[in-house]
Amino acid sequence: MSKVVCVTGGSGCIGSWLVHLLLERGYTVHATVKDLKDDTETKHLEALEGAGTRLRLFQIDLLDYDSIVAAVNGCVGVFHLASPCIVDKVLDPQKELLDPAIKGTTNVLTAAKEAGVSRVVVTSSISAISPNPNWPSDVIKSEDCWVDLEYCKEKELWYPMSKTLAEKSAWEFAKEKGLDVVVVNPGTVMGPVISPKLNASMIMLVRLLQGCTETYENFFIGSVHFKDVALAHILVYENKAAAGRHMCVEAISHYGDFVAKVAELYPEYNVPKLPRDTQPGLLRAKDASKKLIDLGLQFIPMEQIIKDAVECLKSKGFI
Ligand SMILES: NC(=O)c1ccc[n+]([C@@H]2O[C@H](COP(=O)([O-])OP(=O)(O)OC[C@H]3O[C@@H](n4cnc5c(N)ncnc54)[C@H](OP(=O)(O)O)[C@@H]3O)[C@@H](O)[C@H]2O)c1
Repeated sequence: MSKVVCVTGGSGCIGSWLVHLLLERGYTVHATVKDLKDDTETKHLEALEGAGTRLRLFQIDLLDYDSIVAAVNGCVGVFHLASPCIVDKVLDPQKELLDPAIKGTTNVLTAAKEAGVSRVVVTSSISAISPNPNWPSDVIKSEDCWVDLEYCKEKELWYPMSKTLAEKSAWEFAKEKGLDVVVVNPGTVMGPVISPKLNASMIMLVRLLQGCTETYENFFIGSVHFKDVALAHILVYENKAAAGRHMCVEAISHYGDFVAKVAELYPEYNVPKLPRDTQPGLLRAKDASKKLIDLGLQFIPMEQIIKDAVECLKSKGFI
C-alpha cells in the first residue's frame, strides 16, 4: 500500500507532531502551511527526521479549493487539522472562524473524494461535544454528546460553534458522498511544542502561570498530550475498524483540577487559587476515551503533560 498522506495545518502545534510521527513511521507526507515564505511555518517541519526525502510542503488557503487539490493529489489518506483555533473574542466570527472551519472542511473532503483518498481523519474537538447544558447530570459525557448550538449562539461561543458545524458537515458529506471519514475529538492539548508559535491551549497555560483567573467554563473538559493526539490520529487512520467520533482526553476533569496540579508542581509561578469545580455539573471520568484506549492508546497522565509543557515553555523562553 502506498503511504503518501496529506496533513492540512501541518505547520501548527498538533500538525507538526503528527507530521513528525508519520515521518518516523515511514510515511511520505504532504503538509500544508498558510505561507510558504514564512520561515516560522516551514523550518521546524523541514528539520524533522525524514523530511529531506519524504516531506513536501504545500501552501493552501482553506477557502481556495484549487490550492487544496494540489496538496491532496497523490495521497491515499488525509488528516484534516487546519482550522482557526481562537477562544478569545473575535470581531467577525463568520469570517474568522465559521467560514474557514466549515467551508474549509467541505473543500478538503471534496478534494479527497475527487482524488480517490481511502480514508480522511478529521480533527474535531471536545468543543463539538461540550458545552451542552441539557446533557443529563448523571451521565458521563461521551461521543454521544453534541454541543448545544443555541446555547453557543446566546453566549457567543463561536469556536465551539465552528467545530460543531464543521464536524456535522463532515458527517453529512461522508454519508452523502460515501467517503470514509473518522473523527478525533481532542481535549485541551499541551506538551512540548515543535512549532515556534504557540497555539491557543499553550497560550492558556502561559496565561495561567502569569496569574490569569479565567476558568474556561465552556471550553475545558480535560487535557491531553500533543503526542497522544498525534498517535490517536494515526491509530484511527490505520485501524480500519475505527469508526465514528473519538473523545481524546487523558481523563475528564475540571480546569480547577488542572490548575491545582500546576500550582503544586510549580509553586514558584503566580498560579491563582481557583475552585475545583470550574465546569459546573461536569462528571469526572478516568476512561472517557475508552474507544482510543481499546485501540491501544495509553494516555500520558495530566502531571506529565504539565511537566512536559512547562519545561518546554521554560526552555524556549516563553515564560
Ligand atoms: N489546541 C487544542 O487544544 C485543540 C483541541 C481540540 C482540537 N483542536 C483542533 O486541532 C487543530 C489544530 O489546532 P492547533 O492547536 O494545532 O492550532 P494551531 O497551531 O493554531 O494550528 C492550526 C493550523 O491551521 C492552519 N490554518 C488556520 N486557518 C487556516 C486557513 N484559513 N487556511 C489554511 N490553513 C489554516 C494554521 O496555519 P498558520 O499556522 O499559518 O496559521 C495552522 O497550521 C484545529 O482543527 C483545532 O481546532 C485543537
